[in-house]
Amino acid sequence: MSVRHLTVFTALLASILQVSTSSGADHRCFCQVTGNLDDCACDVETIDAFNNNQLFPKLQKLLESDYFRFYKVNLDKPCPFWTDNSHCGLRDCAVQPCSLNEVPEGIKSSSHKYSAEANMQQDNCEKLEHLGAVDASLSEKMRDALLNWNLHDDESERFCVIDDVESPDAQYVDLLLNPERYTGYKGPEAWQIWNSIYEENCFKPYTVKRPVYPQMFHSSQGKDGAKQTCFSSSPGQCVEKRAFYRLISGLHASINIHLSARYLMDDNWFHKKWTHNVSEFQQRFDSDLTAGEGPKRLRNLYFLYLIELRALAKALPFFQHSSFQLYTGQPRQDQAHKELLLEILQLADTFPLHFNETSLFAGDEKEAAKLKEDIRLSFQNISRIMDCVGCFKCRLWGKLQTQGLGTALKVLFSRRQIEDLTKSNVPQPTFQLNRQEIVSIFNAFGRISTSIKELKNFRSMLADFR
Ligand SMILES: *[C@@H]1O[C@H](CO)[C@@H](O)[C@H](O)[C@H]1NC(C)=O
Ligand SMILES: *[C@@H]1O[C@H](CO)[C@@H](O)[C@H](O)[C@H]1NC(C)=O
Ligand SMILES: *[C@@H]1O[C@H](CO)[C@@H](O)[C@H](O)[C@H]1NC(C)=O
Repeated sequence: MSVRHLTVFTALLASILQVSTSSGADHRCFCQVTGNLDDCACDVETIDAFNNNQLFPKLQKLLESDYFRFYKVNLDKPCPFWTDNSHCGLRDCAVQPCSLNEVPEGIKSSSHKYSAEANMQQDNCEKLEHLGAVDASLSEKMRDALLNWNLHDDESERFCVIDDVESPDAQYVDLLLNPERYTGYKGPEAWQIWNSIYEENCFKPYTVKRPVYPQMFHSSQGKDGAKQTCFSSSPGQCVEKRAFYRLISGLHASINIHLSARYLMDDNWFHKKWTHNVSEFQQRFDSDLTAGEGPKRLRNLYFLYLIELRALAKALPFFQHSSFQLYTGQPRQDQAHKELLLEILQLADTFPLHFNETSLFAGDEKEAAKLKEDIRLSFQNISRIMDCVGCFKCRLWGKLQTQGLGTALKVLFSRRQIEDLTKSNVPQPTFQLNRQEIVSIFNAFGRISTSIKELKNFRSMLADFR
């Protein structure tokens, strides 16, 4: 029975049984988005309640703080894979960088310490002077902590290509002033980005159908057969590759939810209004309109949520450390925000049905190491592809979210090093996150958390549609 038949059949059955919630448009997006998630001991309803009622409001508040709203990014890196189409002239793609006097002094002056090599070579006196210029009241202990910050070069643990924040092209962007929303960036260019991510980089199973531009579905057999990098989906397909694919698919779903939730609905000279476009949402997630893929994409979003939630909970010891500060140069606020951050992580830690990451890379040690490396390299490649996104606004959020997910993976695969942080007899901690990574992991998770919340809105709008 085809998916369409199945849907019609279930809808019919539902109407016979008078089950009002499982018929109609809402059902076609959410039909499979309920109950247990594969590979996890968790269900969607538990996540909804936990996120929407508890975590989301707190996280939102944290992300409005100075530390998290200013993200330094290089939007001018050339695309390494194909000739850049000149950046699209769409108005809504523009990113407004901050002028330097808008960025808090503490963030500006401490950011140089995050660039690994530069930092290693810089002589300590110079750094001390520099720090002294910011806030002379820095305690001795804190000063040491700041100096130690980047002694450890963890390039080999990174899942992402990190922008050189020292580059003159890197600029601060106020994320609150440049929200992720509908920009009009679509069509062949946008499609090429996702296509190269799926087809060339992310272990896409043969069975997953991808639309061939323009918005048309076909069976992907044959087309995918030609791609050597893709793998076949079989019952024995390894958890890791499946997990990787699902993360990317979840990220894609999340981005599309935001674009549908903040669609430019009213556009004239005097008035612009970004709000929900239900039909855009259906185009992307309705099971009939997407050959059954839509609901799976939504499930992948939940999977991504669990992974990032788990990573944050795992990172708690790092953030709890007394040397860790959300340093912006405003001590009282910084302290209050650190407390809020810890509250969020503790909440994340109490989530009852965490993803159990020990089941990942649990096989033969050599094989596991190879797999981890494969995934790491693919992921780095995906972060480079983000430099090819033509629309600056989309590039900004694409870079931020891939970096955030990369940081989450780094955390999950640094179990041992993070445990070391809680032991007093380990002199030189080997696990570090720099400001870029911290800002990106929280903002990326903020996006996923917002998506989960938006799903609830779409669900009730679709229910009203009938
Ligand atoms: C990186 O991505 C590009 C563009 O999609 C692709 O051509 C290349 O094969 C990828 N390289 C690796 C190592 O995955
Ligand atoms: C909503 O999105 C659809 C595409 O899915 C588009 O055709 C329609 O014009 C949009 N609605 C408005 C009011 O812009
Ligand atoms: C996670 O999985 C591992 C091995 O699969 C198991 O030993 C461990 O008890 C599990 N942890 C939890 C909290 O379920």
